[in-house]
Amino acid sequence: MNNEPIIAIDGPSGAGKSTLSRRLARALSYTYIDTGAMYRSVALAAQRARIDPDDDSSLAELCDTIRIEFVRGGESDRVLLDGEDVSSEIRTPENSLLTSRISSRLPVREAMVRLQREMGARGAVVLEGRDIGTVVFPEADVKFFLSASARERGRRRYEELKAKGLEVDLDQTIAEVEARDAADSAREHAPLLMAADAFDIDTTQKNIEEVLEEMLHVVEAKRLSAAQFKRNGP
Ligand code: DC
Repeated sequence: MNNEPIIAIDGPSGAGKSTLSRRLARALSYTYIDTGAMYRSVALAAQRARIDPDDDSSLAELCDTIRIEFVRGGESDRVLLDGEDVSSEIRTPENSLLTSRISSRLPVREAMVRLQREMGARGAVVLEGRDIGTVVFPEADVKFFLSASARERGRRRYEELKAKGLEVDLDQTIAEVEARDAADSAREHAPLLMAADAFDIDTTQKNIEEVLEEMLHVVEAKRLSAAQFKRNGP
């Protein structure tokens, strides 16, 4: 393990990735990088510029001109698109659907992967996404793959949207989660895949604290074995 480790957290939506990535980063005093928020920001920028989601050359140009940043805030980080706080606007169901399409485009993936590598290069980071352990940082020090049943993930998403005051239907939300999974897994570029060396954690029947504890154990065990390796040599 490097002195300043990189932790990759991948998995489908609703598996608890965001909460756990944020909590793990906080517990370790690492920087948290939400790569989904980056794709969501590109989708919002594309929508505002009225760019066709299949128009790769316009998307490439857009990615070259926009600026995406994270600002650390008390409870939650804020996402800035060209200096504007878009943290809430990128979380609508409409944006989720568009992001699923936009994030499958090669120029968008190339631009975001480049940016994510720059953001994570110094280590002491937790990166959350779909392809962190496989594409962005295949050499990450610790990789987690969080999963949960589609039904449970749909239920979590439903509760989240309802809490925001949105009118939602449980069955429809589950169906949307399944459709988005299928699209994310079947796409040509960087499909959702578990890295061979990732720790697979099924969160269906577990609460946040239980999973966080499990993850902290894994990180600590990795740290110890890396320290031993350094002392004793291969
Ligand atoms: O994690 P999220 O729900 O905010 O992600 C939004 C969308 O972006 C989702 O359709 C998957 C996609 N995404 C991706 O393709 N690669 C990533 N590294 C992160 C997210």
